Amino acid sequence: MTVVVLGSANMDLVVRQPRLPEPGETMFGSGFQTVAGGKGLNQAVAAARAGAPVAFAGAVGADANGAELRAVLEGEGIATAALAELDAPTGIAAISVLDDGENSIVVVSGANAEVAALDDAAREAIRGASHLVMQFELPQSALLEGARLARELGAVTVLTPAPALDPVDGLLELVDILVPNGGEARALSGADDDAEAARILSGRVGTVVVTRGGEGALVARGGEIVHEVAPVRVEPVDTTGAGDTFVGVLVAGLADGLELEPALARAAAGAAVSVTRAGATSSMPSRDEIDAALAG
Ligand code: RIB
Repeated sequence: MTVVVLGSANMDLVVRQPRLPEPGETMFGSGFQTVAGGKGLNQAVAAARAGAPVAFAGAVGADANGAELRAVLEGEGIATAALAELDAPTGIAAISVLDDGENSIVVVSGANAEVAALDDAAREAIRGASHLVMQFELPQSALLEGARLARELGAVTVLTPAPALDPVDGLLELVDILVPNGGEARALSGADDDAEAARILSGRVGTVVVTRGGEGALVARGGEIVHEVAPVRVEPVDTTGAGDTFVGVLVAGLADGLELEPALARAAAGAAVSVTRAGATSSMPSRDEIDAALAG
């Protein structure tokens, strides 16, 4: 069982600061870190640390950030044959993390935005996938192609619709497991609350898992809420990448043969560990750490 992530790779430029500045204001931050990120790369790293064989399909530029992101993926044991090097700068994300752990993110897509279609290496990677994992930080034309190929070959397709964008026609219908957060679920469905959003979206995809940060997650199928994932209470340091950790650990569990509910419990435990540490990939737990968190 191989997890293939078709997604973005960014270098995250993370500033810790007490609050967001007003327009025209200069203020001091309290710390700075560069960390490998991007929703795709994050999900790939989370799945690999949770024990899954993982391949990554996406793009970086021919620059120092790109070389570092490739080295990070390879250092995690993730196959990079489908990581293209393109004539565009590697994607970056400017991230502000406030004292309560909440974050705001601005992404400049760079090479990620150039992946409008799959190349031979990406198609080859998807042919070997048991699970294809996608987000909205690559052009949706490539996601549609990837999802069609995965569906044709019988792989499970998983989509995080983040950042919140309208899906292209036909994409949601190719998704087996949709994992939005509450805001994304409400934006996609037009509903005012998370449960209603989950119910509505589950009329279009196989299973919907709405993640709700410290409030757990809701699972819907066929228009009904079928399961609630209990919240795992922790003191947050930095929530960046928590949703990506959830998805990576969830898919690693499914690829390992777990049923959905135990895989979701592992995902919630993994995401909870990640918010107690700084950064996206820098905060993601190993399989042993997830086991320890689950054991209490
Ligand atoms: O989900 C967190 C990620 O969003 C960050 O790593 C950043 O790169 C943006 O893609």
